Amino acid sequence: MEFRHLGRSGLLVSEISYGNWITHGSQVEEEAATACVRAALDTGITTFDTADVYAGTKAEEVLGRALKGERREGLEIFTKVYWPTGPGRNDRGLSRKHIMESINGSLRRLQTDYVDLYQAHRYDYSTPLEETMEAFADIVHSGKAHYIGVSEWKASQIRAAHALARELRIPLVSNQPQYSMLWRVIEAEVIPTSEELGVGQIVWSPMAQGVLSGKYLPGQPPPAGSRATDEKSGAGFIASWLSDDVLTRVQRLKPLAEQAGLTMPQLAVAWVLQNPNVSSAIVGASRPEQVHDNVKAAGVKLDADLLKAIDEIVEPVTERDPAKTESPAQRP
Ligand SMILES: NC(=O)c1ccc[n+]([C@@H]2O[C@H](COP(=O)([O-])OP(=O)(O)OC[C@H]3O[C@@H](n4cnc5c(N)ncnc54)[C@H](OP(=O)(O)O)[C@@H]3O)[C@@H](O)[C@H]2O)c1
Repeated sequence: MEFRHLGRSGLLVSEISYGNWITHGSQVEEEAATACVRAALDTGITTFDTADVYAGTKAEEVLGRALKGERREGLEIFTKVYWPTGPGRNDRGLSRKHIMESINGSLRRLQTDYVDLYQAHRYDYSTPLEETMEAFADIVHSGKAHYIGVSEWKASQIRAAHALARELRIPLVSNQPQYSMLWRVIEAEVIPTSEELGVGQIVWSPMAQGVLSGKYLPGQPPPAGSRATDEKSGAGFIASWLSDDVLTRVQRLKPLAEQAGLTMPQLAVAWVLQNPNVSSAIVGASRPEQVHDNVKAAGVKLDADLLKAIDEIVEPVTERDPAKTESPAQRP
């Protein structure tokens, strides 16, 4: 495993992190979830990403149990707040009330005294940014989180939050956006602003939820046990990637991966890590073999000719519009 600084902070994170969205507490049984976490630890992953909302709060519990007994100082545990965690009108968003209640719930479920990074899972247009940042400051100053991050925030929102964080003397060090060969919307605005401010990207769905592994074939039913067959939640999230045009182009990447001596999953993860503003790629996994495969992308350098050949194949189906970085206009 290789390690990078989280933005311009002193915190080192593994280039590849393990995330448990869709899987823990939902798509996969606890035994498989624990085996994936074990595989992550065995292959040198030290950074784990979850959220209060995943699997209706069950994902944090599963991760907490799977990491129990590990040396806490050897791990970086990240969680998030914003999406609804209960039926109440205040069980969501970035109000002071919800942030204070949610961090306590997350710590209890994760069985830890602090998280290394606490992230605003989206921008909340109905709460003053000052209120949110002051609540985050109290959390950092009370030792419940060491660093603050955001997720899917626009460049202007990151800039405003960063200015407040400086005033409040707390470290806002990261943004967590979607990023892959097929989804490059952060390149035009979010990345230049983040580079200037010393904010690093912890990118999600680097494999476009499994699509860039090449296992979904155009015109064929999805493979058994894959996310596209998970009717509980995965199938709905991956659906937009499963067009024949996307899948046909992904198949054309296979000879390029072979020439580079990489598997398709490794090529996809290595691709996001070529961007120096990316601090870590968060990969999901439904079985331990996937973790063993994916971690080999750490430290891989892709040459310019290969990157150009990839661009030529995927460009017509790649999204680059910075306006696609968005949060709900209304609190969900
Ligand atoms: N901040 C946000 O709003 C946000 C949103 C989404 C995700 N995230 C974070 O990002 C993490 C990763 O997201 P993601 O799970 O969509 O990432 P991903 O790495 O693009 O997709 C992971 C899925 O792809 C399949 N896969 C992984 N490795 C494979 C391999 N070697 N061969 C074949 N299939 C493979 C597995 O699904 P199957 O085996 O089931 O097909 C796995 O669960 C999440 O867990 C979460 O922590 C954050």
